[in-house]
Amino acid sequence: MPALFDPYSLKSVTLRNRIAVSPMCQYQAKEGLVNEWHKVHYTTLAHGGAGLVTLEATAVSPEGRITPRCLGLWNDKQADSFAPLVAALRQTGTVVGLQIAHSGRKGSANVPWEGDDHIPETSPESWQPIAPSAIAFGQNRARVPHAMTIEDIERVKADFVRAAERARDMGIQVLMLHFAHGYLAQSFWSTYSNQRTDRYGGTAENRGRFLLETLDAVRAVWPEHLPLCARFGVIEFDGKDEETLTESIALVRKMKERGLDFLDVSVGFSTPGVTVPWGAAFMAPIAARVRREVALPVATSWYINDGRQADALIRNEAVDLVMIGRPLLANPYWSYEAARVLHIPQASQILPPSYGWSLSRYH
Ligand SMILES: Cc1cc2nc3c(=O)[nH]c(=O)nc-3n(C[C@H](O)[C@H](O)[C@H](O)COP(=O)(O)O)c2cc1C
Repeated sequence: MPALFDPYSLKSVTLRNRIAVSPMCQYQAKEGLVNEWHKVHYTTLAHGGAGLVTLEATAVSPEGRITPRCLGLWNDKQADSFAPLVAALRQTGTVVGLQIAHSGRKGSANVPWEGDDHIPETSPESWQPIAPSAIAFGQNRARVPHAMTIEDIERVKADFVRAAERARDMGIQVLMLHFAHGYLAQSFWSTYSNQRTDRYGGTAENRGRFLLETLDAVRAVWPEHLPLCARFGVIEFDGKDEETLTESIALVRKMKERGLDFLDVSVGFSTPGVTVPWGAAFMAPIAARVRREVALPVATSWYINDGRQADALIRNEAVDLVMIGRPLLANPYWSYEAARVLHIPQASQILPPSYGWSLSRYH
């Protein structure tokens, strides 16, 4: 029976435990560059002992940012700014992941604490968001996106490939494609945002095409020995859940056939006004179903708040990894606390020796 603090191997990479830092935008970058904030933030999280640190949604193009403060990987200067961070993280014993992303119709937004809405079109900071169809998300993202041409689709896929190559060359070990949360790829999948009449819209096969083609293109440049994963919203909680889940699981099966190594199971967030059943580990049963039906390793996030709960999810084989987000912002040493609660021998060794030797005296 696997447990939270057992190592986990995927392809050539071995995580020291089953705890992963979930990707979390910091909205602290300028021109997409890594700066001191990112170094302190991520290095602290790595020192906290997680098996995998997933760097935040990193835009594959300027228009693919959510906000002007997002990280980017569309030029070499940006890749150079990541390199020392990736090297420092790898020194800590964590595995380093990176999520590459395109924001689609949710892009061109103010940072969450300055409105979390679209930047006014008249502002020089704004840009024209793109999406499968010219349909706005609504609510705080009311701007109507430009409907992508076939050339746009080809360009964005090429942007994903270029970002993946840069990630590979700067030492990223796990690459995550952002196919969730109402951003570009998810918006191809969802009928709320995709009303195209060409081969990228309509049937589930057509709506899944952009995701599969992007996956194929990235897999072709991402080393075979390194894990490639996606975060994908398999459900919307809009009352059509069984239908959406069945279609999503069929798409995940195709992703697996095309070389996806694991799936981070999440929510679609393709339309406002749905009733998400927020609650402790509410996505875990859905992730477990994907795992069972596709026979693919899975992770999930959402309100996995304490170590016992996380350990039970691993022991029950609901998920292979737990993705922890906000609890790690509240306490970067969450993994150490989890180890203590679970009475892991040498829990203090989870921390760097400068901390661990001292804490070991008291336990
Ligand atoms: C500040 C913040 C930034 C986030 N940024 C991202 C992101 O870059 N990519 C992503 O897929 N999810 C993002 N999320 C979602 C988290 O990765 C995670 O799935 C979510 O917070 C639920 O997990 P939790 O309950 O442990 O926080 C973000 C969440 C927060 C709180």
